[in-house]
Amino acid sequence: MALQKGDRVAVLTSGGDAPGMNAAVRAVARVGAEIGLDMIGIEDGYAGLVDGRVAPLSIRVLDEAARRGGTVLGTARSKIFATPEGQARARETLARHDVRGILVIGGNGSLTGARTLTDVETKGGRLVVGGVPASIDNDLACTSMSIGVDTAMNTIVEACDRIFDTATAHKRTFIVEVMGRDCGYLAMTSGIAAGADAVLVRETDKDEAQIVDQVVRTMQRAYGPQPDGGTTKRRVLVIKSEGVRIDSARLKDLVEEKIKTLLPDVDTRVTVLGHVVRGGTPTAFDRLLGARLANAALRAMVAGQSDFMAGWSGPGIPRPPCPWDPYVVLTPLAEVLAETAKLMSGDSEIARWRKRIFQEVEDILQR
Ligand code: F6P
Repeated sequence: MALQKGDRVAVLTSGGDAPGMNAAVRAVARVGAEIGLDMIGIEDGYAGLVDGRVAPLSIRVLDEAARRGGTVLGTARSKIFATPEGQARARETLARHDVRGILVIGGNGSLTGARTLTDVETKGGRLVVGGVPASIDNDLACTSMSIGVDTAMNTIVEACDRIFDTATAHKRTFIVEVMGRDCGYLAMTSGIAAGADAVLVRETDKDEAQIVDQVVRTMQRAYGPQPDGGTTKRRVLVIKSEGVRIDSARLKDLVEEKIKTLLPDVDTRVTVLGHVVRGGTPTAFDRLLGARLANAALRAMVAGQSDFMAGWSGPGIPRPPCPWDPYVVLTPLAEVLAETAKLMSGDSEIARWRKRIFQEVEDILQR
């Protein structure tokens, strides 16, 4: 059932924060107010929903927050929400505050949580549930980009530019580990943008020995005589996705062991960027993406749609644009979750395409 003027709609951010979440919440607050909805925020994602912690949405506060990373609503990875007791308490919160619709901004786990609320009965009919993809990992299907990816990519590229300077000065090899969970998208895209010499991702299914070989080959090629007679490189930058199952320090030791007689004067260092990748000022793209996905999602909820995610259109997303934004597509949550599982197990069109590109890029980066 469509939402009416005066209906209360809650918004929450959940899972790992992503730069651009605040811009999405601001858009929800502004668009909701314009439509005449009664918008409220839930603190700390599903943890706050379980505990009944609701908060007013101040547009002025959100205007400021939209310039910043993190999430002004707070976020959490709630374990209790997944239990029957947590579910019951979350439903009590929704009933107590007479919530008619809920918009969840987050990644795979967060949208899985949103699905569990689609059977909640409210005074005005079934709870209206919408989702907006936000995760720096870009591991969600049915959207070409999730909120936060662009900022994280820019952060990695900036860090690599800095590392290049010191690596070149010392003629060193750097292994730079970046976030992304089991998805190599962030590592690969930032590796190409930064001009890395190699990118290590889980998707290429290499074992430890093959990964060590890849790094060693990259170093030999970089520091050895160039096939075109050009000058040799003075640094090697290897970006390693955290999903690759080999500890970065161990990788460095194994590489050094193998390379020590071939290239005795080359040192290797490890930099783990960790949570640095997730924070920081959102790029203009992420602010706009957050605003546009949130706007379309809320308007779809008002028009009577529920149990969906508003994604950014792109290759492999075979859906028509929604009426509120030609770049936004609405996909049922069940399909989003099923496609995401396939993406992560390598069993979807996009997964196969990514794997092929990841393999092709290996030789091109080494040049
Ligand atoms: O999903 C986003 C992400 O930043 C991943 O890249 C990373 O593996 C994980 O979250 C880290 O989670 P936490 O902040 O809970 O340690």
